[in-house]
Amino acid sequence: MSTPDDLHLPDFALQGLGTRPFGVYVHVPFCATRCGYCDFNTYTAGELGSGAAPEDWLEGLRKELDLAAQRLGRPPAADTVFVGGGTPSLLGADGLAAVLDAVRQSFGLAADAEVTTESNPESTSPELFAGIRDAGYTRVSLGMQSAAPHVLRVLDRTHTPGRPVAAAAEARAAGFDHVNLDLIYGTPGERTEDLQASLDAVLEAGVDHVSAYALIVEDGTALARRVRKGEIPMPDDDVLAADYELLDAMLEKAGLRWYEVSNWAASEQARCRHNLGYWLGGDWWGAGPGAHSHVGGVRWWNVKHPARYTATLADAALPVGGQESLTAEDRHLERVMLELRLADGLPLDALDDDGAREARRAAADGLLSTRDLDGGRAVLTDRGRLLADAVVRRLVS
Ligand SMILES: C[S@@+](CC[C@H](N)C(=O)[O-])C[C@H]1O[C@@H](n2cnc3c(N)ncnc32)[C@H](O)[C@@H]1O
Ligand code: SF4
Repeated sequence: MSTPDDLHLPDFALQGLGTRPFGVYVHVPFCATRCGYCDFNTYTAGELGSGAAPEDWLEGLRKELDLAAQRLGRPPAADTVFVGGGTPSLLGADGLAAVLDAVRQSFGLAADAEVTTESNPESTSPELFAGIRDAGYTRVSLGMQSAAPHVLRVLDRTHTPGRPVAAAAEARAAGFDHVNLDLIYGTPGERTEDLQASLDAVLEAGVDHVSAYALIVEDGTALARRVRKGEIPMPDDDVLAADYELLDAMLEKAGLRWYEVSNWAASEQARCRHNLGYWLGGDWWGAGPGAHSHVGGVRWWNVKHPARYTATLADAALPVGGQESLTAEDRHLERVMLELRLADGLPLDALDDDGAREARRAAADGLLSTRDLDGGRAVLTDRGRLLADAVVRRLVS
């Protein structure tokens, strides 16, 4: 494992910096409680040792962003900023404003920058939304997961009934045109009518973006322990496929179109530009404990623990935990994996001869659109979206 601050950014990685979209991700590693399914790098107050309180983290973050801008030489202004977590809303409006100021002072913000923050609806209020709108945030993403209390219980998640929908309305009233709700589907015990009710609630909220992910049972989580003990079954693949079809049909009917397999938007402007930067191989600096970065084919990641993060930055060193340069093969695999999931698809000339031949076979099997293939792009059909990972494997093997 590398020691902190041995980040090596070769000239080839820095070439073209600023000609591709540039994003800044900020990782906020705090949550009020830990949801049983979640393995994100996040800590409750009781789990954090000394030197890792939010004020220490913010101090560290300012230093990291300054060092980052210096390390990139002439740093590009951020086209997109995504403050994720964890639960950024726990920082309050002043804390979130301070985070955005730190990005402004280090990299600067492009004039039309998209600035998103994630929130747990339970730690939001009209005042928070008004404060962060004033501070310059343009987009809010809220973790809803489900409207069904018994599903939320399996997820170890408590929401005041109706709170996610109310929070979305408060965000819109504060002037946010772009609001996302996150859903999780396929939770054991979730019935079709539960998912339908969650989607009804999402549509009632009038948001312009929805992300819906199948429940993943991550190793090391409380949920995985309960599955291992036989208390809860694994999510069922057939149920997951039927759920996906239901949610896609309901969202499309309401004018939210898929633009990535797990993401739907009401318009081109409602798409999350920051995430599109990840999916289209853009550059981004990920700041905060455990955050990952990518610049021109070099990827690196920060040390995970907030105390080690702040201690390293107190010595004016970048808190790098490791780095790797992507080989041509890695980059090819990654490109196919990410771009094929987009509704715009992947240009066929990104595939080698075997891949292009396999794409024609996948179209004959009904997994890729024949019309788009004739137009030079590999685009998943509705059935292909259900089998996206398998299609990727066919195109790269
Ligand atoms: C950082 S959280 C969102 C903000 C906030 N922490 C919250 O949960 O309300 C990002 C999203 O990842 C999704 N997620 C996390 N763990 C997951 C898992 N094991 N399976 C599926 N989705 C997951 C959830 O939908 C969650 O809203
Ligand atoms: S899902 Fe969100 S609130 Fe729950 S532990 Fe993960 S990051 Fe925290």
